[in-house]
Amino acid sequence: MTTPDPAPSADSASGTETVDDPFAAFDAAAGIGQVDDIHPVFHQMRSESPVHVGNFASRFGFEDVFGDAMAGESGTPHAVLSFDAVQQVLKDGATFSSSGYADTMGALMGHSILEMDEPEHHQYRSLLQQAFTRKAMERWERDLVVPVVNGLIDVFVERGSADLVKELFFPFPVTVIAGMLGLPTEDLPEFHRKAVELITIITDIETGLNASIWLHEYFSRVIAERRADPREDVISVLTQAELDGQRLDDEEIIAFLRLLLPAGAETTYRSSSNLMFGLLSNPDQLAALRADRAQMPQAIEEGIRWEPPLTGIGRTAMRDVEVEGVLIPAGSTVQVEMGAANRDPARWDRPDEFDIHREPQQHMGFAFGVHMCLGIHLARMETTVAINAVLDRLPDVRLDPTADDVRISGLAFRAPPALPVIFGES
Ligand code: HEM
Repeated sequence: MTTPDPAPSADSASGTETVDDPFAAFDAAAGIGQVDDIHPVFHQMRSESPVHVGNFASRFGFEDVFGDAMAGESGTPHAVLSFDAVQQVLKDGATFSSSGYADTMGALMGHSILEMDEPEHHQYRSLLQQAFTRKAMERWERDLVVPVVNGLIDVFVERGSADLVKELFFPFPVTVIAGMLGLPTEDLPEFHRKAVELITIITDIETGLNASIWLHEYFSRVIAERRADPREDVISVLTQAELDGQRLDDEEIIAFLRLLLPAGAETTYRSSSNLMFGLLSNPDQLAALRADRAQMPQAIEEGIRWEPPLTGIGRTAMRDVEVEGVLIPAGSTVQVEMGAANRDPARWDRPDEFDIHREPQQHMGFAFGVHMCLGIHLARMETTVAINAVLDRLPDVRLDPTADDVRISGLAFRAPPALPVIFGES
């Protein structure tokens, strides 16, 4: 086993570290620390047209947007911005293919579920889902997520103050995924670093390729061990999964594992941070949730509607197609902006307000259609555990009044770089 580097600092999540730090490089590519409130621009663009022709990133002063660049470059980019337009695109995988990811993410991850269209996608997803059953989630919650979250809080609970991003929300999802894969704890820092390097493709393709090779070797070894000696972890389940006589080979499992960390950890850490920021900035809602935990599911969905951690994904138009009256020619890259759709005033009253009491409605933060997030139940369960633990163990938790400028930032990925809080007696 490779000797791990010291744990990467979660300070890096703020985008304030040096450029050779993969966490900082990734955040810089995602616009974190550089773009604050993206929503006025999205509102303006959506009011001009639900479908924007051309690369919309220039409206934010960027040449390209990390998440959309992942979807490849072909034809004129078209950004879909209204709720109806985003739903139409994500519902129709035959017209709006996911295959564009093959040229970009595929070069690093292998042929993963992200870039598959039907019917291949359905077969592969059904095999993967065998590792994410409800029963498995209950076991992971009890045996892994609750102890991981409580262990992190133990470190600062007596202090009366903490940075909840650095000390809780950043480390917990990656620790959970490593635990679900059955990886040794000492491998975690290097594993996390490589997974982030893997997706920093815009800024540094060579580092991405090296990380891809490292992860391939690392996972090949673990898969061989699990095939010889199966346990109760996700890798063991994937080596055994079977559907209609078909099984996953090593390359298929490795492609999924390389996707899992960016898909599962980078999103959940940001979504739980965004939700906590919404609650801390609205103490009445925080108090209401503390008093009635039955509101947790709607609070989680509202957090993801209001500030989805991943604002856009990519598709390719396979034929000439009209969306909300705008012709998208065959071959165009389609930038699917869930961050804009989730604040469409045609669907939500007061769309810019965080309000856990609003009537729940389908949002696009987890995407929609056949590629809708595979980890949705895991993400909801992890967030529930983390927020409940904060409410239970940090009495009267509130933003540190001496900290200034706490806010959510980023274009492709969004989160507050830090959440300084105090708790205990006021
Ligand atoms: C709040 C947290 C999360 C959010 C907002 C989120 C969001 C998304 C979105 C938008 C997609 C669609 C990507 C596309 O089609 O281009 C997706 C797919 C996916 N997500 Fe999540 N995700 C979250 C957590 C997780 C977790 C915890 C896992 C771990 C298992 C996970 C695994 C996946 C996988 C494997 C896919 C690909 C599914 C497919 O292509 O069929 N996600 N997610």
